[in-house]
Amino acid sequence: SRRMGYRDWRWRALWCHHFFLLWSAINGLTRYSIPEELKRGSVVGNLARDLGLGLSDIFDRKLRVASEAGKQYFSVDAGKGELVVNDRIDREALCGQSASCVLTLQVVTENPLQLHRIEVEIRDINDNSPIFSTEERSLKIAESTAPGISFPLETAQDQDVGSNSVKSYTLSKDECFVLRIKEVSGNRKVPELVLEKALDREKQSVHQLLLTAIDGGNPVKSGITKIIVTVLDNNDNVPVFKRPLYNVSVAENSAARSVILRVEATDADEGVNGEIQYAFSEHTPQSLLSIFHLHSDTGEISLAGPLDYESTPMHEIDITAKDKGVPEMEGHCRVHVTVIDINDNAPEIVLTSNPNPVREDAPRGTVVALISARDHDSGNNGKVTLRLPKNSPFALKSSFSNNYAVVTSDALDREHISEYNIEITATDSGSPPLSSKKVIPVSITDVNDNPPAFTQPSYNVYLKENGVPGSILYSVSATDRDFGENAKISYSILDSKVQDLSVSSYVYINSDNGSIYSMHSFDYEKLKVFQIHVQAKDQGSPSLSGNATVHVFILDQNDNAPAVIYPSSAALGSFSQQRMPRSAKAAHLLTKVTAVDADSGHNAWISYRLAEATDASLFTVNLYTGEVRTKRAVSEQDDSSQRLLIEIKDDGEPVRSATVTVSVLLEDGLHEPILDLRQKSAEPSQKGGRVTLYLIVSLASVSVLSLLTFLILAVKCIRNSRSSGSCCMRRSDCDEYKNPNRNLQIQLNTDGPIKYVEVLGGDMLSQSQSFRSCMSPMSEYSDFTLIKPSSTTDFKEVISVLDASLPDSTWTFESQQLLEICLLDDGFYQLLIEIKSNK
Ligand SMILES: *[C@@H]1O[C@H](CO)[C@@H](O)[C@H](O)[C@H]1NC(C)=O
Ligand SMILES: *[C@@H]1O[C@H](CO)[C@@H](O)[C@H](O)[C@H]1NC(C)=O
Repeated sequence: SRRMGYRDWRWRALWCHHFFLLWSAINGLTRYSIPEELKRGSVVGNLARDLGLGLSDIFDRKLRVASEAGKQYFSVDAGKGELVVNDRIDREALCGQSASCVLTLQVVTENPLQLHRIEVEIRDINDNSPIFSTEERSLKIAESTAPGISFPLETAQDQDVGSNSVKSYTLSKDECFVLRIKEVSGNRKVPELVLEKALDREKQSVHQLLLTAIDGGNPVKSGITKIIVTVLDNNDNVPVFKRPLYNVSVAENSAARSVILRVEATDADEGVNGEIQYAFSEHTPQSLLSIFHLHSDTGEISLAGPLDYESTPMHEIDITAKDKGVPEMEGHCRVHVTVIDINDNAPEIVLTSNPNPVREDAPRGTVVALISARDHDSGNNGKVTLRLPKNSPFALKSSFSNNYAVVTSDALDREHISEYNIEITATDSGSPPLSSKKVIPVSITDVNDNPPAFTQPSYNVYLKENGVPGSILYSVSATDRDFGENAKISYSILDSKVQDLSVSSYVYINSDNGSIYSMHSFDYEKLKVFQIHVQAKDQGSPSLSGNATVHVFILDQNDNAPAVIYPSSAALGSFSQQRMPRSAKAAHLLTKVTAVDADSGHNAWISYRLAEATDASLFTVNLYTGEVRTKRAVSEQDDSSQRLLIEIKDDGEPVRSATVTVSVLLEDGLHEPILDLRQKSAEPSQKGGRVTLYLIVSLASVSVLSLLTFLILAVKCIRNSRSSGSCCMRRSDCDEYKNPNRNLQIQLNTDGPIKYVEVLGGDMLSQSQSFRSCMSPMSEYSDFTLIKPSSTTDFKEVISVLDASLPDSTWTFESQQLLEICLLDDGFYQLLIEIKSNK
């Protein structure tokens, strides 16, 4: 039943509609009103009734719609006489945009032929949507456009009319834009896009808007167009750094060109407005520019120069980022570069005061120099310890923070080390530690603490006699280990006596160089040895001195010819007259020529020779003794007057000689002389003089024995000299002997093997002239008449001097032979001993 109800409602609505149509036909002019787009066959109205025709009339009178040119929109239903829609009716096609659309129809009835005018109003229905000519519209608006500016938009077209046409526009929601509808002439509504709020490309670069046009129909129809607003960029954004402040720590030994940081800025703008260039800000000092390099495109900061914690532990760099827009915009940031200290600075030692020279007698603790140590690094890297080399006579005394005094810590000796280069090592506590050295030169000033010292405590000088006065006798030299005036030496001779005269009358010394000059020529026969005490004195204050003794030994030269002392007629021009009996046998001693030589040694070794004779076959001269004997018995034929020339020569170089002429007178019946030793001893009957002879012989024997004993003792002692000898006295012991024979003289020829030792004893100072007679033990006959054995001679002196004079301890005497014994006139002796040594 409800279904029925619904149908019922529809029917009623339709009825009301038809009633209206009916009503209009009654008003004279049949007029219908239909909406457009009715279906074919839809009833417009009951035409028959409205025209007052009955049902039968419809067929009979052939009610019909007069055909018109063109389309036949309506037709008459033959059954009910209703006007029905024959074709699609589109109001917009029929009437366009005109507000009313009425179609006029001619309805024809025959019998009688009548013409009825019928109007059918086509009412608009909302069958068209508003349409925009383009689906999409692009708009470009600059960012900087001021709000309030409007942009006209396309209007939409709607083919419908009246209320079915475009009624209003709406715009999709957008915060920047609003829609404004502008009424233009003829009620036309034009939509406008109004910029309500400033655009920000960076926030939204494209705005997509939908513009909807709505018509007033029922149901409402709409059309849409898209509006794309592209925001044109404006350089309205500053480049912005990611951080306003960058902190970075860099070790100060970082390699050059290493990148320490990258700053980054962004610019919301696009294109060149967003292209960023980095640069140091304008006020950046040159010092920073020399250290850092900024890559203008990448923002990388790298090292261009060395970092130095010590000069700048922290750098502040201001960096600007600029875009390329117009006008350009810039942003800023700051970079704090903290430099990390590396132990890159060696400690330094600074002399606070220049080193003073130090006296060598400076007490310990004397300040030599003041120094301070420093290190530019910080922390442990800058903690400095100082060190002195071991064995240095200096020490460091710390005063206050890193200040030290270099003081002496030991005794100094300029003569040992005159200048120190004190090497001080400073080491810091970094890891690895660095160190440096400083050499402080300290000179030690001299103090006169060394006396001059002669090269030898004593000098032996051997000087030939008869030298030229004023010649250099010897040069002594002394050295002084001190310096300058303290070492400037002047030489002098200390006063002493030589043969009752001051030594300065014999010699003088060059005070500058120690050369000693003789002022005399010396005569060995008068002076054999003397001492000079020389002194060397420096010029320090107080001055010091040293002394030495120069022993001058005068060497004998063969400057004396042998002098004949017997026959004494030598005074008569070396001529002597001798008488001899004709009865003399062979080997008869005619006479004995005796000569002496003032020289010594070989120079005094005399030999005799028969140089010329009246009859050379009759006489012979003993080479050594000078005895002149007959070679044969004298015969009657021999000339009674014989003349002999005897030459006496010494053994010196050059040989000096003397001659004596002996004239012999052969006489008959003359007594034989008593001095024929051989004859007398061979003939015991000859008692006269025999006692004397024995006396002489025994005396000589005693002398020879004692001499031999001495020699044996001497040789023994020399051999045992190293053991605590029984009879030997060491030199030191001998000092006790204040001996009477202080001029005991030993001459050793030290070059090559020792051949002989000449021992000279006696008090030579008291000797005014020494006369010697020397004889050889090898002589055929020994004549000891001149021997006066000296009981006071102390042979220990001789032995010890011999001992001390040996050139070195390896000498030993293997055999010895007495070559010559010389007896000097004052009871002194001279021995010439031949020694065979093991060298
Ligand atoms: C010392 O000086 C003198 C004079 O100037 C000179 O003749 C002598 O040779 C010098 N002696 C030495 C050892 O130089
Ligand atoms: C010489 O020197 C010695 C020590 O070397 C000393 O005992 C002596 O007194 C000195 N003599 C003089 C005269 O200076």
